[in-house]
Amino acid sequence: MKIKALYAGSFDPLTKGHYDIIQRASKICDELVVGVIVNPQKKPYFHIQKRKELIEGATKEFDNVKVESFSGLLADYVNDNGFNVVVRGLRNGQDFENEIPMAQLNAKLYNNQVETIFLMTSPEHAFISSSMVREVAQLNGNVKELVPANIYEELKKL
Ligand code: PNS
Repeated sequence: MKIKALYAGSFDPLTKGHYDIIQRASKICDELVVGVIVNPQKKPYFHIQKRKELIEGATKEFDNVKVESFSGLLADYVNDNGFNVVVRGLRNGQDFENEIPMAQLNAKLYNNQVETIFLMTSPEHAFISSSMVREVAQLNGNVKELVPANIYEELKKL
């Protein structure tokens, strides 16, 4: 069976931790879609189209990785687009606690036709979050080590 996987998130912005998950997931999937979620309740740092373009730029070396955007329920997007795997990254125990009920609820919404798989973030990236990157960047701190190069260049412009 071919693995068509979704790696969904806000990616506002994509970090080196996200990039690491994409790189590793792309090796075990036939097709990997990075799904950038539009959350109408949140005011984003980067517009959805910009986030998508930045992720495309950062992942262009991976032939089997595509970037899409979506809104609404994750499970609807997964069911409607024929995904059979959803990838999530885990940095620590707190992520684990948050992810388990979400994966268990989603399993029901996927009618048990889709598996959520978890990849542990590499230790050198375990402390990175998009919210910390935004905060440091807004206060003119150096985020060079935290995000892919094209995203670093974009953050410097703000
Ligand atoms: O960037 P994040 O916070 O890791 O993304 C989390 C995401 C996009 C997976 C989650 O917020 C989500 O699934 N949002 C869509 C709305 C939804 O399906 N909610 C029910 C989750 S059980």
